[in-house]
Amino acid sequence: MNPLRKAILDMAGYVPGFQPPDNEPWIKLNTNENPYPPSPKVREALLAEIGDEGENLRKYPDPGSKAMRATAAALYGFDPSWVITANGSDELLNNLIRAFAGEGEEVGYVHPSYSYYATLAEIQGAKVQTFGLDENFRLKDFPTSYEGKIFFLTSPNAPLGFAYPLSYIESLARRCVGMLVVDEAYVDFADFSAMELVKRHENVVVTRTFSKSYSLAGMRLGLAVARPDVINALDKIRDHYHLDRLALVAGNAALADQAHLSATVAKIRATRERFVAGLKALGYTVIDSRANFVFAAPPDRDGKRIFEALYARKILVRYFSDPLLAHGMRITIGTDAEMDDTLAALGEIG
Ligand SMILES: Cc1ncc(COP(=O)(O)O)c(C=O)c1O
Repeated sequence: MNPLRKAILDMAGYVPGFQPPDNEPWIKLNTNENPYPPSPKVREALLAEIGDEGENLRKYPDPGSKAMRATAAALYGFDPSWVITANGSDELLNNLIRAFAGEGEEVGYVHPSYSYYATLAEIQGAKVQTFGLDENFRLKDFPTSYEGKIFFLTSPNAPLGFAYPLSYIESLARRCVGMLVVDEAYVDFADFSAMELVKRHENVVVTRTFSKSYSLAGMRLGLAVARPDVINALDKIRDHYHLDRLALVAGNAALADQAHLSATVAKIRATRERFVAGLKALGYTVIDSRANFVFAAPPDRDGKRIFEALYARKILVRYFSDPLLAHGMRITIGTDAEMDDTLAALGEIG
């Protein structure tokens, strides 16, 4: 008999975004990375932390991530006891499920959104419940009192890109008996955040990533803001040295350089608007995006055909075979030049 837990035996496992198969110059618009480098202060901080001979790497990092938490707390207007940093926001999503949903208990999320929530719930042996979206991008059939232990709301939504209004997110917080986790992986490209709800509602947690707006996908950094009792629980669960020395200084330097963040985000938002106009001129249907990607459908609603034709031209976008998404593609916003090349390719493909 296979000694693996049944939950692990039965699950398929998450498949992360595809990486280009060769070293050729692909235009990579499939995993929502930032096309621009991180703040130069990040590089400086990393080099200083390594030291001339790498001597600092000998020592364990600060297990409490105190400096980075303090910087984040000051930036967002919270006491540091309300903030935790992590090895990517994925680590936080995982540990939130471990903290709140036991075996057989329910975890909910919106479909379509980030399917990794389901994978994490399956590992835990928790039940998964999804809620669809209506034509106005509001949840269908969400009960007045949702009894699941934890509900994940991705806002802005991925892969569709729209953001829920703050008042709507707050109404969901009231309807959730368990925790409402607002996954704000893309919020720096949007117009507002739900972070103020953490102060108003005991059950709200907001998670952020450094992989998109801060251009640090390669460092694996995320953070969450929640009530101190939730942060304490997450601190108990995590590995004690979950963030290495380099990640800690990189995260701290990135947070401290808000001018760089604003400039990068402004460029990407401007490119997004130009790209959307170009797509519409080609007859594409495009969902109004508040993220660093757009979900766009060609006139014949055959996302796979366009994905494959772009792939043949070494342009990588994200196609989902899910029937709710197969009519389009999710396209990350790259540099202006990359998006111009993509529009030219789409024009040729027709
Ligand atoms: C909605 C959403 N949440 C979380 C993540 C994970 O981010 P991280 O790189 O911080 O683990 C992603 C990554 O693509 C995402 O799209």
